[in-house]
Amino acid sequence: MARREERNWPPGPRGHWLRGNTPEYEADRIGFLRHCHREYGDVFSFDEQTVFVIDPDLTHEALARTGQSFVTELAPFDMRRNLDQAAARATAWMSARRAAWPGLSRSTAATTDDRTLEILDAVMGSSADRVVDVLTTMRAFTARAIAEYCFGPDSAGIPGLLSETIRATEPFTASSYEFPAWLPIPRHRHFFHTQRRLADALTGIVRQRRVSSTPASRNDLLDFLLHADPALSDDTVTSTLHSILMGGHGVPAAALTSIVWELARRPQLAADLHDEASGPAGGDAPPSAARLPLAEAVVQETLRLYPPAWLMTRVASTATTLGGWSLGPDDELLLNPYLIHRDPRWWQRPDEFDPGRWSNGRPAPGPAYLPFGAGPRVCLGSALAVRQLTLTTSRLAQCFTITSPNASSAVPEFVGRLAPAGLRARFRPVHPSRARP
Ligand code: HEM
Repeated sequence: MARREERNWPPGPRGHWLRGNTPEYEADRIGFLRHCHREYGDVFSFDEQTVFVIDPDLTHEALARTGQSFVTELAPFDMRRNLDQAAARATAWMSARRAAWPGLSRSTAATTDDRTLEILDAVMGSSADRVVDVLTTMRAFTARAIAEYCFGPDSAGIPGLLSETIRATEPFTASSYEFPAWLPIPRHRHFFHTQRRLADALTGIVRQRRVSSTPASRNDLLDFLLHADPALSDDTVTSTLHSILMGGHGVPAAALTSIVWELARRPQLAADLHDEASGPAGGDAPPSAARLPLAEAVVQETLRLYPPAWLMTRVASTATTLGGWSLGPDDELLLNPYLIHRDPRWWQRPDEFDPGRWSNGRPAPGPAYLPFGAGPRVCLGSALAVRQLTLTTSRLAQCFTITSPNASSAVPEFVGRLAPAGLRARFRPVHPSRARP
């Protein structure tokens, strides 16, 4: 690929002659990106192969062209990218994705409301009235919720494996420095070992179900997939559910942690949510997702201010252009919903948390709000996620008074999934009898 001087390559900071911009980025990721955005505009380069895009329309264009000019699936930690392999994986995934989509629709998701709340009550019951790490608690909930969504009663053991997988992934997301996947360093070995254990467990459940299941015998995503397209191989079903388990666990937990952060700092909002959940009669029956406009607005606003997927990656699979800039095969695009969601060109009072802005529909141009991505690879679980997060927000406000010893000092962490770092909170039951062990 021609050097940046010889092609139409976006401007950007030159950085250190050897280490480039990585040390500055690592020291303060969002501060560095804000600075570059101010200095160089909506599209700027990070190095000879990497471009950041903060423009909503170009971001949508890049997401919409995934599968044509851009790919998203690359083998983890593989510095020598195999674009052909990535394209083949994408083709297989897209047909599995189409089969799974109706199993994650709004109406299908609605059938699991009661079970979602039972799982939340059980997890919160064991955390009630103690100061707990919020992200860990929320992950315990989302892991059980998504494992049961996929496998019903066969899900035992899966939430523990999901937690291990997230822990094994953390060392990689914490740093921008990559090492080749074949390097036998402990964190690689641990990561691949954990992946194998999860894959083996999933394969075991899928095979067992294939021989024992009668049509529609269970009400879970695995049954749905097996009957939606009997031609799907066990490998395809397993890897599809693997992706859904991974997507449906850490990201929603990060969003819930940000929601708890806001509720702990806003007693009036928590009281309004409590009233909405309890209804005019003030009862303590579980809230109904269909009638929770305030809780849903809190979810939308949280995903605007703290999009857990604050950075998305695409790799050019061919020589192409975006917004007039030239890209070659292997060049990388980094798309940044966080900065788009806080841009005063699209949002009034962009840094203010104001659920009220959602009361009359979407308050900004469509492309300026993309917590779930866009295009052919838009989040597969968005309907389920909005429903579960709305119900959960409502139920937490209905059942608990939330306080936090460190809410005022916690700051969002731009590592992996965006969430307030180290947030701790106490969930004191409003009706102590509700906190079931
Ligand atoms: C707050 C909750 C969630 C947020 C903010 C979120 C966000 C996203 C985003 C931004 C993407 C696109 C990434 C990209 O284009 O690079 C994505 C993809 C995905 N999400 Fe979600 N997600 C959430 C919940 C869920 C849930 C509950 C599930 C599972 C039921 C799920 C499953 C997936 C899957 C499987 C993909 C990959 C889709 C593909 O590549 O075709 N997500 N998510």
